[in-house]
Amino acid sequence: MKAVVVRPPKVGVSIEELKEPEPEPNKVKIRILNTGICGTDREIVNGKLITARPPNGRDYLILGHEAIGVVEESCCGFKKGEIVMPVNRRGCGHCLNCQIGRPDFCETGEFVEAGISGLDGFMREYYYDDPKWLVRVPYEIKDFAVMAQPLSDLEKSLEEILNVQKRVPIWTCDDGTYNCRKALVIGTGPVGILISLLLKTYGFEVWITNRRELNDMERTIAEEVGLEFYNSANGYDGLKEKVGRFDLIFDASNAFTYIASQVLPLLNYNGILGLFGFPQSGQLSLSYAELQSLIFRSNVIVGLVNGQKPHFEMAMVHLASWKTMWPKTVKAMITKEVPIEDEKEVKEVIMNKLPSEIKVKIVWSK
Ligand code: NAP
Ligand code: BGC
Ligand code: ZN
Ligand code: ZN
Repeated sequence: MKAVVVRPPKVGVSIEELKEPEPEPNKVKIRILNTGICGTDREIVNGKLITARPPNGRDYLILGHEAIGVVEESCCGFKKGEIVMPVNRRGCGHCLNCQIGRPDFCETGEFVEAGISGLDGFMREYYYDDPKWLVRVPYEIKDFAVMAQPLSDLEKSLEEILNVQKRVPIWTCDDGTYNCRKALVIGTGPVGILISLLLKTYGFEVWITNRRELNDMERTIAEEVGLEFYNSANGYDGLKEKVGRFDLIFDASNAFTYIASQVLPLLNYNGILGLFGFPQSGQLSLSYAELQSLIFRSNVIVGLVNGQKPHFEMAMVHLASWKTMWPKTVKAMITKEVPIEDEKEVKEVIMNKLPSEIKVKIVWSK
């Protein structure tokens, strides 16, 4: 069977013919339908993700952590023909958080991540999986359901942000929502857009930024959803003058090392900065005065990573509701579909982000 293979930290990607997996008892046989390409995949194939590694004893890793597939044979509570999405991070087996299904908070660091770290991913025709890692995909959202995986990371991140903000005696507004809170999202890739939709769903006023103008797709989304945009090519001073400070700043770029000192002064009293994007280079340096300000304003900086099964479930619900709330947006987000048969194009879209791309989907079967 075909599979997309990487050898981290080597730069590059290949499509190889691998042996079909052997049947395993009490595991569900899955035929992959679609896989999505994430910024993290590009960081892996460009040798920039420090956590990327093959399974133990191997020199290669099958790429891909965003996937939906179809159940090939009824097994273990799943019926033939059902569409499923696999959870990508799997627990270490020892720590309590992993034992209760929350390897996003693994305490040992010995978890594995499909297609990223120590476990084969989903860019292959078939594989077998333990039913406990499978989430049902409503048929109505199957065309764009690959986005439920990155959205699961963001569902978890927002849950964590709201939990952290419970430290403030009152952070909700006089209608019980967050509609008096201002959020700034840095980066307009799939992650930046998905977190913006989620924040809007919770009532936040959302500003998105990039150091360039929005492209047509991004503009369509911003207009339909009601996102404000600021072009940060000349820094963020103009934004502070225009909008004031933000209660939440969410980094969805991969360049935070270069913008930290520009955006930190925008954080409001009691505000929270969520670091989600993986910077690819650079060094972060903050002056004593910047640190004093963070302390004086009771700010929090939090690293946000990985969603688990409950977050995948929430992601399915939100995608289904956004299909009705923001139909143009959901349609606009899948900017390209590439059939796996077109190997040259598949390798190209994995290595390089296309101009005007939001989410690219590789189609393995229909
Ligand atoms: P992406 O498509 O590469 O998006 C990055 C976005 O940031 C793009 O819109 C890019 O603009 C923009 N950008 C780059 N430099 C910028 C700057 N200086 N100022 C403002 N915007 C800037 O990647 P993605 O798939 O959305 O993922 C975003 C990041 O999140 C990646 O680092 C990925 O690895 C990470 N991630 C983390 C987790 C987690 O659990 N923590 C989960 C998923 C992804 P252009 O379009 O012009 O390049
Ligand atoms: C994945 C997350 C994963 C993270 C760190 C992201 O691209 O979507 O689920 O935990 O990378 O490897
Ligand atoms: Zn990802
Ligand atoms: Zn663990």
